Amino acid sequence: MIRKLFPRVALLLTLGATAAVIHVSCCNVQPAPEPKVAAVPKPTLMSWRVASAYLEDIFTRIPNSSIDDFRKDTPPEERKLVNSAHGETGVQADNAHVYGEPAPMTTDLMLGRVGASDNDVLYDLGSGRSFFLMQALLTSPIKKAVGVELAHSRAVIAEQARSMMLEQGLMPPGKVLDLREQDMAKTNVEDATIVYMDSVFFTDELLNGVARNLSRAKNMRWIVMITKGMPPNPWFELATTERLKMSWSPKFGSDVLFYKRTTAPAG
Ligand SMILES: C[S@@+](CC[C@H](N)C(=O)[O-])C[C@H]1O[C@@H](n2cnc3c(N)ncnc32)[C@H](O)[C@@H]1O
Repeated sequence: MIRKLFPRVALLLTLGATAAVIHVSCCNVQPAPEPKVAAVPKPTLMSWRVASAYLEDIFTRIPNSSIDDFRKDTPPEERKLVNSAHGETGVQADNAHVYGEPAPMTTDLMLGRVGASDNDVLYDLGSGRSFFLMQALLTSPIKKAVGVELAHSRAVIAEQARSMMLEQGLMPPGKVLDLREQDMAKTNVEDATIVYMDSVFFTDELLNGVARNLSRAKNMRWIVMITKGMPPNPWFELATTERLKMSWSPKFGSDVLFYKRTTAPAG
């Protein structure tokens, strides 16, 4: 009897063992539980309307820091310094110090056109009170913005506004605003990927040097200028022009010029 039953018992035992193995191997392929690492929250980007409201609120609390204040008054020694940075033509023209900004909506459009991303380092050469860069940090994914301004009184106001942004917790985490009181032709631009210049009154004498410096920035993608473009040079060519609103021309706007890199080797 036992002998008769043995093959069946053996078969049942074998099936049982196989099922157990299958069960074990089934359990092994189940996904491992997610490690419990706290997700780093992505900084939330503001709309240009909200960002400019916050920034206007900051500048309202800094005396003599409006666009109109900057247009009315430039200390004579700063005016001289800025204009002489533009060579003999700059001294003669005496207008490189004249102040203006793009409308906040225009800034937003420009950043969209160049596809500003978290890999970009954005420079404003001649950054004034740095409203443009502050707005860019609040509304676009860029992580680093660099402002270069030669007029001391304007550089001081930009620094005050930057401190207020930090105090109010307005600066998005992980983002940097580097402000330099320097001549734009002499500053280090090696990490620049997008450069903006409100260049209406900039001279070719200055821009020739700026173009040469920018040609050495390995990851340069776009140069955005207003009204006055780059003098002819081997490194940057005009890709497109668009008419957009400015603080000084809210109705008719001014030409915004977008330059792309050519394949010419750095100068
Ligand atoms: C028209 S304002 C533009 C301000 C700012 N970029 C914006 O669009 O909001 C030009 C600024 O460039 C500054 N500037 C002119 N030549 C410069 C130079 N060689 N180096 C640094 N800043 C300069 C002027 O003092 C002025 O504040």
